[in-house]
Amino acid sequence: MAASARQTGLKRSKVVANFLSDQQQMINDKKGANQMARNSMVLSSCQRIFEEEDFNVVITTSPEEGLSLVLDTYFDVVLCDWMMPGLDGMDVITRLEETSPGSAVVMITGYPSIERATEAMKRGAMDYVAKPFTPDEIIKAVDEAIQRKEGEERKVIERFGALTKTGKISLPSIDEKMLQTLSAAIDERRQMEAKPSLEALSEPERLEEMTLAVLNKYARDTNNLIPILQAIHSYAGYLSYETIGLIARELKISEHEIFGTASFYAQFKFEKPGQHLIRCCTGTACFVGGGGVILEAVESKLDIVPGQTTKDGMFSLERVACLGCCALAPVVTIDGEVYGQMSPAKLSRAIDKIYRTESVKSD
Ligand code: FES
Repeated sequence: MAASARQTGLKRSKVVANFLSDQQQMINDKKGANQMARNSMVLSSCQRIFEEEDFNVVITTSPEEGLSLVLDTYFDVVLCDWMMPGLDGMDVITRLEETSPGSAVVMITGYPSIERATEAMKRGAMDYVAKPFTPDEIIKAVDEAIQRKEGEERKVIERFGALTKTGKISLPSIDEKMLQTLSAAIDERRQMEAKPSLEALSEPERLEEMTLAVLNKYARDTNNLIPILQAIHSYAGYLSYETIGLIARELKISEHEIFGTASFYAQFKFEKPGQHLIRCCTGTACFVGGGGVILEAVESKLDIVPGQTTKDGMFSLERVACLGCCALAPVVTIDGEVYGQMSPAKLSRAIDKIYRTESVKSD
């Protein structure tokens, strides 16, 4: 069996190749040893073909070993012979569907037939290559399999992303009490270790402590990635790049994977929110009443657009489609408090008042 990875710098750009003779099961032990040596030559020449094309390659002659390799590492493509000792290519496809659904499988056979090709594709193989093949043929099959698999993934992501962004899919809220309990447990432990309390730590230190506690709470299981992200997001108000890096290191997965998962959901923010959140409604009732003008006025006053936070970290701005109180249109909320019949001047005064209050607090 062989495995390789295209060197794009992305962790997932890898290929597993498995080349075993179709006749292997029909020969006796002694000849079997000779056959294995020939297979190794096929494997090493395939390895060379892929490496010359900038793939990273891992090879193995055992389908079981190949499947356990796939469990540990993500591979873009699994090249798999149809007939192998113990497992056939169809078994491998079925097992890969469970353990590495993102890998594209390319089946190889010395006995090509339409029935076999149809069966392989029905089970989820991305391509089917007949032996003997030239280097160009196998590279082309692998490239096309990667592209097809990525195309399929993109479609799923776009569909899922569209549903989550429109709020048709939303995450269940996290139990705030759990965060309080974790926080109390951290303080208790730190007290026993004669260390300062969470409150006394700097923000990054506090966040690191809480992130590690949340990871432990969820048994550091990647299946719990979403609740882990939710809990940390709920605690910090956003997912910082440092936090994503820490989670990636602790769970031994890529930052890319975490970001990819979190960015599905509109609930997750990646920038530290301002101390105060202004939400401007531009739904139909509010827009007709001047919601658009109010939004423009606040954008100009704070020099930010929706989704951004002022440089001083004081305000974040969001545009919403309806706040559920259209009778008060145009509506703005500041830190959850509803301001009806809003106007640019009224909003400007409300912002100035907050600045004054904050400056008194810091004096
Ligand atoms: S449209 Fe603005 S509150 Fe409904």
